[in-house]
Amino acid sequence: MTLAAVILAAGQGTRLKSDLPKVLHRLGGRALVRYAIEAAQALTDAPPVLVIGHGADEVRAELGDTVRYAVQEQQLGTGHAVMQAAPLLEGRCSNVLVTYGDMPLLRANTLRALIETQSRNSGPLTLLTIDAPHLFDFGRIVRDVDGRVTGIIELAQATPAQQAIVEKNVGAYCLNAEWLWAHLPQLPLSPKGEYYLTDIVALAAAEGGDVAVVKTDDEAETLGINTRAQLAQAEAALRARLNAQWMAEGVTFIDPATTYLEPTVTVGRDTVLWPNVHLQGATSIGEGCVIGPNTIVRDTVIGNGCHIECSVLEGAWLGDEVEMGPFARLRQGARLERGVHMGNFGEVKNSTLGPGVKMGHFSYIGDAAIGAEANIGAGTITCNFDGVKKNKTIIGENAFIGSDTMLVAPVSLGANARTGAGSVVTKDIPADSLAVGMPARVIRKLKVES
Ligand code: UD1
Ligand code: CA
Repeated sequence: MTLAAVILAAGQGTRLKSDLPKVLHRLGGRALVRYAIEAAQALTDAPPVLVIGHGADEVRAELGDTVRYAVQEQQLGTGHAVMQAAPLLEGRCSNVLVTYGDMPLLRANTLRALIETQSRNSGPLTLLTIDAPHLFDFGRIVRDVDGRVTGIIELAQATPAQQAIVEKNVGAYCLNAEWLWAHLPQLPLSPKGEYYLTDIVALAAAEGGDVAVVKTDDEAETLGINTRAQLAQAEAALRARLNAQWMAEGVTFIDPATTYLEPTVTVGRDTVLWPNVHLQGATSIGEGCVIGPNTIVRDTVIGNGCHIECSVLEGAWLGDEVEMGPFARLRQGARLERGVHMGNFGEVKNSTLGPGVKMGHFSYIGDAAIGAEANIGAGTITCNFDGVKKNKTIIGENAFIGSDTMLVAPVSLGANARTGAGSVVTKDIPADSLAVGMPARVIRKLKVES
């Protein structure tokens, strides 16, 4: 059987009171609708059809060609929205999975159960429900005395008795395609002037078709984003789910409620995450690290056994056993090899610090390459920008840079070179030499221990 996924995302999201289309609001750092798209992609190779309307151009700009688009010019209801996908899909698939773009926590596995149940169902559709008395504004599942599903009643149309029904419509459906296309045009107009997809259930039941049901007991899955409060709720639910998953993989969270991992991040076992740690984007953390408290790591690879406290890292790479912070900052292209120690108030950009480099206090290293075991004294600055372009600083292995040295790039220092405190280095310093002063001059050749 070939399966096509249709994701409804044309609604305005009025209650968010936003200029941004609802499905582009961020959750876990990414557009809300991406979660529904990825769930669909896990189930079928055919690119999902996204029904767009409000903010269509912005949605297209954000998602590009990861999906196919059907445009619903006027938002005349969820049933009408599905109809817009017919020209793309009619005759091309045997089953259709319909989900809503504003339900980011619906799991692919739950949808898989829906598809499997429908594959065994002789009737035209299977839908997802949950027993939840307090989900008040959800559609109610109406059953007859024999327990057969006969329809879905939206809250606004529900009688007091129907309002008391605990079984609710989550909002995910697997339908026989041919039957769906034939019956969508038969949907009645609701009192609100819309064509509800949910009314298709009554059409199936009226024909005597079996409406199958899959129940979830995970309430997080039912979270739909209609308001900012629900957005915050979903963020917390997503965080709880992700953090639980990493704890199961052997990661320690001192306080999962205040530790923020995006879904794109990976963390190795025996790593400890302290509160107020934010791991974002293409970040991976090795095993046995201690990260935080108060640390932001974005698009950065961190090796094993690193210890990072109160620091901000972006676009960087760290080998094993690097020690950083408190209050260190790594920017794009910072590469810290094994065993680097970087203390407080240092900044490194587009530079490599070789194995064992020590940079304890108050330094700026930009566009530089620093050899193994070099010692960067307090207050060292690479003066990398001459007002026009960035220039490179090269420092050899075992060099010892005195406190408050200004390295006016382009400049290079040989292995074992030393500078005196307060030197302003404007010319290259050969290996094994001590330079001092402003501008720095070599005053002595150093004895090199063999
Ligand atoms: C819907 C269900 C309800 C269910 C609930 C679960 C219907 C009629 N009701 O109600 O039974 O319990 O979800 O959250 O389906 N959309 C369009 N075009 C439209 C209208 C909506 O694309 O013309 C999209 C929206 O962007 C949204 C989704 O369909 O992503 C659901 O619409 P929404 O208005 O949020 O439906 P609910 O009132 O939540
Ligand atoms: Ca909704």
